[in-house]
Amino acid sequence: AGPCDIYSSGGTPCIAAHSTTRALYSAYSGSLYQVKRGSDGATTNIAPLSAGGVANAAAQDTFCASTTCLITIIYDQSGKGNHLTQAPPGGFSGPESNGYDNLASAIGAPVTLNGQKAYGVFVSPGTGYRNNAASGTATADVAEGMYAIFDGTHYNGGCCFDYGNAEVSSTDTGNGHMEALYFGDNTVWGKGSGSGPWVMADLENGLFSGVSSGTNTGDPSVSYRFLTATLKGGPNLWSIRGGNAASGSLSTYYSGVRPTASGYNPMKKEGAIILGIGGDNSVGAQGTFYEGVMTSGYPSDATENSVQANIVAAKYATTSLTSGPALTAGSSVSLRVTTSGYDTRYLAHTGTTVNTQVVTSSSTTALKQQASWTVRAGLGNSACFSFESKDTPGSYIRHYNFALLLAASDGTKQFNEDATFCTQTGLSGQGSTIRAWGYPTRFFRHYSNVAYVASNGGVNTFDSSTSFNDDHITGDPAVEDV
Ligand code: AHR
Ligand code: AHR
Ligand code: AHR
Repeated sequence: AGPCDIYSSGGTPCIAAHSTTRALYSAYSGSLYQVKRGSDGATTNIAPLSAGGVANAAAQDTFCASTTCLITIIYDQSGKGNHLTQAPPGGFSGPESNGYDNLASAIGAPVTLNGQKAYGVFVSPGTGYRNNAASGTATADVAEGMYAIFDGTHYNGGCCFDYGNAEVSSTDTGNGHMEALYFGDNTVWGKGSGSGPWVMADLENGLFSGVSSGTNTGDPSVSYRFLTATLKGGPNLWSIRGGNAASGSLSTYYSGVRPTASGYNPMKKEGAIILGIGGDNSVGAQGTFYEGVMTSGYPSDATENSVQANIVAAKYATTSLTSGPALTAGSSVSLRVTTSGYDTRYLAHTGTTVNTQVVTSSSTTALKQQASWTVRAGLGNSACFSFESKDTPGSYIRHYNFALLLAASDGTKQFNEDATFCTQTGLSGQGSTIRAWGYPTRFFRHYSNVAYVASNGGVNTFDSSTSFNDDHITGDPAVEDV
């Protein structure tokens, strides 16, 4: 059985079922998600390998070979047609043209399920999916349930990495107009014990961890690499639960009456569905989503416990974030441009600006050093890499407003993540293409000889898709050794 078969047996059927990794009904063999590739704008649907099975990630890899791919649609498996697509602007605008949110990279969150490769949905700040015309979702004070599997190590304090029920207008229409799972370490409204991150409920104008606004110590900090989170709510009753999606059972973080703050009892749910954003399209949050559902009716704890057992049996596990030529921590590299006419240039820095410069064996030692980097384990994720300056130890390549800069480490989580990059087989067939860990739609790219993390098409000049594949920067032995 799949999670939605279990919810059905419990009398609280799924009315939305979203996953890029697997079928959530044992009989489901339809499309899980759609990807769109950068080379020609073509789309394809990815289905499970067999009914009830894991996504056919190899079909995606073949379709997306030598180009970039975005997740354009996350299909609803419930039959209600509650698909998730690129979120439109609301109270806040997204970064894409006309205020739409970004779409997620199709390769940002690789995992295995029972040893078979699949991809989750890696939400960078700015990314969001939504359905403002969902059918069968709970409205007003009607009962519903939901669960999601998140990456408990990928979060931030921005507003708001959510999955669940929200406003149909993409605007803040008042307290109680949302009921969505939240995951992160935002402390503007509520929090739990410790320093976070926490599973909370986004009920609009408030993230709730229990019966009162503010701190509720029953809601623990949780950072399981694979995190199961549940939320359910009905008339003057709601609950948050969570646990390790890879083993064990769920714990109840809160179960009881509606918050004491005014406006949340009765609820005024509107029935839209969001992923990765706040109800008003706040787009500051990050997180990773693998699967999730929404139900009709208030699921029993026993039903949720059976769903957790099903999730554990799916055997989520990590897999490599890199591909192509290997980099070795501790080694020196120089990164040479591959664009025809520019291929005597190397990634270098002039002060804090990261650019490309012509370097030859007769260049000065100073310039050679400016174009040489010590490979380090990724400061923000040790499965990827950071590049420490040869001539300015303690300073690293980071991105800021998507430009590459040389900056001294300040030790913050933001710095560490902005200084972490993952290598993959070169899009042009040469060397490595290097993507930003936290923005997997964005790759090292030179433009007018200045270096950026650029997307393959987008609102910035440096995102130009013209010569995108060739403008990447590939690894060479350190030029200081030339
Ligand atoms: O409730 C927290 C956030 O407040 C909501 O997600 C958003 O709509 C509002 O800004
Ligand atoms: O480079 C994109 C973002 O710009 C970084 O993640 C952040 O530090 C800055 O605001
Ligand atoms: O960085 C040099 C060139 O500038 C790039 O190849 C091109 O995309 C841009 O015009």
